[in-house]
Amino acid sequence: MLSNKVEEALNAQVNAEMWSAYFYLSMSCHFASEGLAGVANWYNVQSQEEQAHALKLIKYLVSRNSRVNLSSIADVPTKWNSIKDALNATLAHEQRVTGMINNLYAVAEEEKDYATREMLNGFISEQVEEEDTVRGLIDKINLIGEDGTGIYQFDKELAARVYTTPAFCK
Ligand SMILES: [Fe+2]
Ligand SMILES: [Fe+2]
Repeated sequence: MLSNKVEEALNAQVNAEMWSAYFYLSMSCHFASEGLAGVANWYNVQSQEEQAHALKLIKYLVSRNSRVNLSSIADVPTKWNSIKDALNATLAHEQRVTGMINNLYAVAEEEKDYATREMLNGFISEQVEEEDTVRGLIDKINLIGEDGTGIYQFDKELAARVYTTPAFCK
């Protein structure tokens, strides 16, 4: 059984991961309606990954004989001015999530909950990867600028992303 503090913090993170999933799904819908099917696909896969993160935490809570409290998911933005704008919002969001995961890790340490700390290692590495990936996409879109052919190629590249359950969530 987890301490109340850890249980609460993990439940808050479930909600944050579901918000992330909703946020990226909203971006996916936005870009689909803008005719950028590849970018929409990339964000759809991103949304699925966030759901997998939430499910991993849920599975962990259950395995520790603790309560899962699914609370309401706050509204998400529905419109972005450009791909660059959405990617910048994505990076800022992932940086925020990194902070949340670090806080969660600190709570686990304070509570001397080493099993939770161990479980969070996957999330720690995942955040490094997430920030790096998005930074790479921002670099590309900065190079492309307003070039239509470049945007066409970028969209095509992002169309190739396929969802697979992240290894640490299996
Ligand atoms: Fe996540
Ligand atoms: Fe993420």
